[in-house]
Amino acid sequence: MSENEEAIILTEDQSEERPYEFVLHENAREQEVLGAIVRTATGSNLSAKESLVAAVNRETGELLGFVGVKRRSFHLSEIRHLHVDKPNRNQGIATNLVKKALEMVKTPVVFATVSYQNIPSYKTFMVNGFTEWTQFPSSSSGKIMCLVGRHVVRLQ
Ligand SMILES: CC(C)(COP(=O)(O)OP(=O)(O)OC[C@H]1O[C@@H](n2cnc3c(N)ncnc32)[C@H](O)[C@@H]1OP(=O)(O)O)[C@@H](O)C(=O)NCCC(=O)NCCS
Repeated sequence: MSENEEAIILTEDQSEERPYEFVLHENAREQEVLGAIVRTATGSNLSAKESLVAAVNRETGELLGFVGVKRRSFHLSEIRHLHVDKPNRNQGIATNLVKKALEMVKTPVVFATVSYQNIPSYKTFMVNGFTEWTQFPSSSSGKIMCLVGRHVVRLQ
C-alpha cells in the first residue's frame, strides 16, 4: 500500500520491535484501492467515516492485515472488517491490530460481532478484554454469532 495524505503512521512503544507498523487511514472508503482490498478480503464494503488500521510490513510496504473502526453513536463504536492475510496468521497480528484499534476508539463502549465457530477471531477479542454480551443466530448463515464488547476507559 502506498503512503498518501490520508495515511498516518501510528506511534508505537519503542520496545515493541515488530516487522510491521500500523498505519491509520481515516475515512478509508474515500480511497478506492483500499475499499477494493477490503471488499475482496471480507466480502463487505467500508462504510462512511470508517477508519482503517492497517498492519504494513516495514521493509516491503506489504499490507498484512487490517481492522475497521466505525463510530455508531456518541457512546458506541464497532470494530469490524478484521482480516489478516493467510501467510501472516497466528503471529499475533490480529491481536495487535485490535489493540491498536482500541486506541482509536473515542466512545466509552465498543463492540464487535464474531462467529462462535471462528476460534481465532473469538480469541483475538477475548485477549483484548472483550466479553461475550449475547449470542444470536445469523439471519444469513444460521451460524451462532456472538456480540462481544467492552468499555474503553478514558481519564480525560
Ligand atoms: C481471525 C483472524 C483475523 C486472526 O488473525 P491472526 O493474526 O492469525 O490472529 P492472532 O495471531 O492474533 O491470534 C489470535 C488468537 O487466536 C489464536 N489462533 C490463531 N490461529 C488459530 C487457529 N488456527 N486455531 C486456534 N487458535 C488460533 C492465537 O493463538 C491467539 O490466541 P492466544 O492469544 O490465546 O494465543 C484471521 O484468522 C483471519 O483473517 N481470518 C479470516 C477473517 C475473519 O475471520 N475475520 C474475523 C471476523 S470477526
